[in-house]
Amino acid sequence: MTINTPNTPLAVLILAAGQGSRMKSSRPKVLHTIAGLPMISHVINTVKTLNPVHIIPILAPHMDEVIQAITPLKYVTQPKPLGTGDAVKCTLNKLKDFKGSVLVLCGDVPLITEATLSKLLATHEEHKYGITVLGMKPLDPSGYGRLIQQADGTLDRIVEHADATEKERSVSVCNSGVMVIDGNHIHKWIAQIENNNSQNEFYLVDLPLIAQKDQYTCGVVMGNVQELQGVNDRAQLAELENLWQAQKRNEIMKSGVTLQNPDTIYFSYDTKIGQDSLIGANTVFGTGVEIADHVEIKPFCHLEQVKIYSGGIIGPFARLRPGTILEKNAKIGNFVEIKNATLGENVKVNHLTYVGDADIGCGSNIGAGTITCNYDGKNKYRTTIGQDVFVGSNTVLIAPITLENGCYIGAGSTLSKDIPSDSLAVARSRTIIKENWAISKKET
Ligand code: UD1
Ligand code: MG
Repeated sequence: MTINTPNTPLAVLILAAGQGSRMKSSRPKVLHTIAGLPMISHVINTVKTLNPVHIIPILAPHMDEVIQAITPLKYVTQPKPLGTGDAVKCTLNKLKDFKGSVLVLCGDVPLITEATLSKLLATHEEHKYGITVLGMKPLDPSGYGRLIQQADGTLDRIVEHADATEKERSVSVCNSGVMVIDGNHIHKWIAQIENNNSQNEFYLVDLPLIAQKDQYTCGVVMGNVQELQGVNDRAQLAELENLWQAQKRNEIMKSGVTLQNPDTIYFSYDTKIGQDSLIGANTVFGTGVEIADHVEIKPFCHLEQVKIYSGGIIGPFARLRPGTILEKNAKIGNFVEIKNATLGENVKVNHLTYVGDADIGCGSNIGAGTITCNYDGKNKYRTTIGQDVFVGSNTVLIAPITLENGCYIGAGSTLSKDIPSDSLAVARSRTIIKENWAISKKET
C-alpha cells in the first residue's frame, strides 16, 4: 500500500495530563517504559517521522520527570484535568497562527505506527474532512466511546460509553482517542465544547457534531486494535511490552539474525544486531547495545550499553555492563562481568572474572577468577593491561595499576605495583613441602 505524504503542515498534540491512578505508581503513567523507553517517548519518536511543525505534549502541573524525559520539546500545562477538550484548549495559544492539520494523540498509546498516522492524515486531507477519527474494533468495546457513522461511512458523532444508549453501545466501532482536526477552525470549534455530560468533563469527542454544524463532513479511518491499545494498568503495560517484543523479534530475525527460542529474548527500543549473529535463549538486552555481524551470544546473558565488534563470542551467563567495548573476536566466557572497559582484538576472558574500569590490549588472556579491584570504598581507579599479557588464574589487580605489553602474571598473585613489559610477576607465598609430614603426625 502506498500512502501519500500529506502536504498540509502538521501540529501534533500529545495528551498526557491524566493521573494514571490505576498504575498505582509514584511516577506519571507516560514515564512507564516499553522496551526501556518511556511510553511518551515512543509516541514522540513516531510522530517525528511525520515532520510536524509543532509537537506539543500536554502535562499536568509538577510533572518534572516527564519534562526531563521530553526535553528539548516545549510542553503546555493543563492546570486541572477538566477533560480531553480542555486539554486541547490549553495548546491553542501556541497554535494562534497555525493553519494546517492538528493531530491529537495520547501519551499512553505507545505502539501507534507512522503508517497508520499517515493513512489517517492522507484521508483527512483528501476528503477535506473537518475532523477525522481513528476507529478500532476491540474485542470488548465497553468503556470506549462509540463512533456512530452515517450510511455512507462518514462520522456523525462520538458517544462516550457512560452517555450511550443500549443501541449505541451495540456499535462495535470505537474511538481510539486519536483524531485530526482542521486547524483553520480548531479555535472556534473547541470554544463550543460544553461539559454537560455524565462526567462533567469537556469532551474532545464533541467536536464532530460541532464541525458538522459548521457544514464540515467528518470521517473515520479504521486502525489495528493492537496498535491502538492504551495502557491503564500494569497488566496492559505488560501486554504491550509483549506485543512490542514479538514485533522486534520478527524484525530482527528478518534482518538475518538467528534467535534461539525467540520468546525468551528481550530487546530494548534501540538494540542493534548485525547479520549472521546468533543470540542464545534467555538473553536480555538493556538499552544502548550495538552488536556487529557474526557475533555469538550464548544463552543467559545480560547486556546494557555495550558495543561488540564482529566475531565476538559471549557467554553463557555473562554480564556486560555500561561502557563495555569488545573489539574484534573477543571471547567472554561464563560468569564474567565487565564494566566500563575496552577489550582489544582477540582478548580472552573465559571464566569467573570481574573486569571493571579497565583497558586490555589485543591478544591478552585473563585467567579464571581474575578480579580488578577498581574501588577503594571512595574512588574508582583504572587497570591498564597491554598487549599479549598473560594473567594467571585467581589474580587480584589492585588499581590503579598497569601491566605492560607481554608480561606474565603467576596464578594466585595479588598485585599492587605496575609490571614492566615482558617480565614475570609472581606475588604469592612460596609452596612449602614437608615430606612424610602426615605419616609422622599420625604416629604422635
Ligand atoms: C477517551 C475518549 C474515548 C476513547 C478512549 C480511548 C474522550 C472524552 N473519550 O476516553 O472516546 O474511546 O479515550 O482510550 O476523549 N487527558 C488529559 N487531560 C484531561 C483528561 C484526559 O490530558 O483533562 C488525557 C489522558 O492523560 C489520556 C487521554 O487524555 O492520555 C484520554 O483520557 P482518558 O481519561 O483516558 O479518557 P478515556 O475515558 O479513556
Ligand atoms: Mg483512557
